[in-house]
Amino acid sequence: MIDLKKSIILKKDLGGEMVRGLLVVLSLLLLGLQGCAPKAVDFEQTSPKEKIVLTFSHVVSDASPKGRAARLWADLVYQRSGGRVEIKIYPNGTLYKDGEELEALKKGYVQIIAPATSKLTSLDSRWGVFDLPFFFNDLEQVHQLADGPVGELLRKSMREKGIEVLAYWDNGFKILTADRPLENLKDFQGLKIRIMDSPILKKQFLKLGAIPVPLSFNEVFEALENKKVNGGENTPSNLYSKKFYQLQSYVTISNHGYLGYAVLMNRDYFNSLDQETRKILLDTLKEVTAWQRKIALEQNAADLARIRNDQNIKIHDLTPEEKEAWQAVLKPLAYEIIPLFPKNLQSEILKIGNLN
Ligand code: LMR
Repeated sequence: MIDLKKSIILKKDLGGEMVRGLLVVLSLLLLGLQGCAPKAVDFEQTSPKEKIVLTFSHVVSDASPKGRAARLWADLVYQRSGGRVEIKIYPNGTLYKDGEELEALKKGYVQIIAPATSKLTSLDSRWGVFDLPFFFNDLEQVHQLADGPVGELLRKSMREKGIEVLAYWDNGFKILTADRPLENLKDFQGLKIRIMDSPILKKQFLKLGAIPVPLSFNEVFEALENKKVNGGENTPSNLYSKKFYQLQSYVTISNHGYLGYAVLMNRDYFNSLDQETRKILLDTLKEVTAWQRKIALEQNAADLARIRNDQNIKIHDLTPEEKEAWQAVLKPLAYEIIPLFPKNLQSEILKIGNLN
């Protein structure tokens, strides 16, 4: 015999299950849509305005100049918008790695990334101008290039590809690490050196007789540990924060090339933001950029001092003669990039950089 009471309870439970199931499906749908929809809406906010959540993915440590600036930007934007605009930061490649993040940005899965300019050469090879070895004497020259018409041309080129360049951030000048001393040109023969994927960086090491190995940032530690590569080039802050230098016995203070970033936002997303939000984001970013450039310089100096203090590392400062020999081989790479710019900008680049 059917127990009517039980059957009603059962029906009720089933109803509950169905509602719960529907809610799960709806939440999943909403989560899925977040990947494509530009704005996340927090329905619990009491404010009549929409809450805006932007995801910022990057590959380095929170303690690096890029990581610190990302945090400061997020904190200030949150404060200044009264909690309405939130930038959620995913450092260390936890969300997207090199080789994934540009695609994720273009598809709108993430709203902000800040890759090294070297990694943008896959979209426009003229980004390679920042990679030119021994071309910049100091960061001021790099800023002149980034903040002037050359930086503007690169912004325009990215805009056409659906990406907005919001700022240019520094890391600093690169030094070399290896499992043997790198002093004379012949020392590079046959060495496998990790590079960021950029044609100029590839040519730089080919010219030195080494074997360039493009690897994404998150693969470097393991590649050094397993001797898949003999060495690499990076800034003191990256070498220190990721402990790469501890896997190497020799460091050459070459300061041969620059490493910096473009802070990028998906263009459709940028255009979809209201005027007030855009202003808070950009005004704050301007201030943060000035601060970022200052602390990047300081942190690289401090991290270099820490590396120098490590008893297990042998440090070599390039002598003027060695530097001259390296420059003679590497400086001509500028002629492979500069002709790619319009005539008026070619002379601009030559005015800033140092070819002699
Ligand atoms: C690298 O790949 O070595 C750097 O671009 C990482 C970074 O973002 O500083």
